[in-house]
Amino acid sequence: MIQTRPVVGAPSFALDNTSLALDYERISALRHLEPGRQLVGDLAIRRGERILDVGCGTGTLAEEIAATVGPDGFVLGIDPLPLRIGLATSRARDNLSFELGDANDLDRLADRSFDAVMLNAVLHWLPDKTGPLLGFWRVLRYGGRLGISTALKGDVPELVRTARAVLAEPPFDEHPRPREGITFRVDAEELRALLQTTGFQPRFVEVREHPFRHAGPEDALRFMEASSFGNALGHLPPELRDQARARVREKFAALVGPDGIVSTGRRVVAIAERR
Ligand SMILES: C[S@@+](CC[C@H](N)C(=O)[O-])C[C@H]1O[C@@H](n2cnc3c(N)ncnc32)[C@H](O)[C@@H]1O
Repeated sequence: MIQTRPVVGAPSFALDNTSLALDYERISALRHLEPGRQLVGDLAIRRGERILDVGCGTGTLAEEIAATVGPDGFVLGIDPLPLRIGLATSRARDNLSFELGDANDLDRLADRSFDAVMLNAVLHWLPDKTGPLLGFWRVLRYGGRLGISTALKGDVPELVRTARAVLAEPPFDEHPRPREGITFRVDAEELRALLQTTGFQPRFVEVREHPFRHAGPEDALRFMEASSFGNALGHLPPELRDQARARVREKFAALVGPDGIVSTGRRVVAIAERR
């Protein structure tokens, strides 16, 4: 196993709960599904292939990929959150399995056992990228493809700016986060360099915009919490979290337009080949 030192501000896997996992299924999975479908298209996944979906969440995308690879192919989805893997498991079938797992520790997977590895909305949760990328390289066959779609460094959508402004006010400001953001993002150049130094040949690395419509303030707040598996407000003492939710909801209400709350996120998308 690749040893990683604890990283200040690294996301906690202990803040997830049933309601967040179900919310993920209802809202967030939809938010990430479209970019995920594009990533699957970019990877040109074919019938009969073996695919590893790292950070599969509740398995919505993995289920679609299993239909693409068909009965002679295989999809394995791994995620460190037991409740999300619990929901994903209801989708399992002959060519689709789910397991608890971490991108930092792929030791139990055999060398060169996959045709493609993909991470949709996951890489920005990994404080260390090099260790996981070397792991993806090891489990891919020669010429296998890696597909990554991840939040772009420096992109702070209005919803996030609004929530951060609330958290900078009393009484929440007495409990600052160790870092301003909760994710560990890269830009296109950084991702390209990381891929090249870990044995991949990038086919392309580009930035794409993904607009999404939240029905209202409550949906937007639930998206924020579910998608971050509780980390968005997780630094606050539990007794302050409801108060913070109410304040964030109030501020989000000011962002509602005729189409609800439209939030456009920017992602770095990369497809690379294992050398
Ligand atoms: C925004 S969700 C994306 C889920 C899924 N890929 C999708 O497209 O719906 C981010 C996922 O990354 C997972 N994740 C976070 N850290 C991880 C790690 N170290 N290894 C693997 N997955 C991780 C989380 O558990 C969460 O399910």
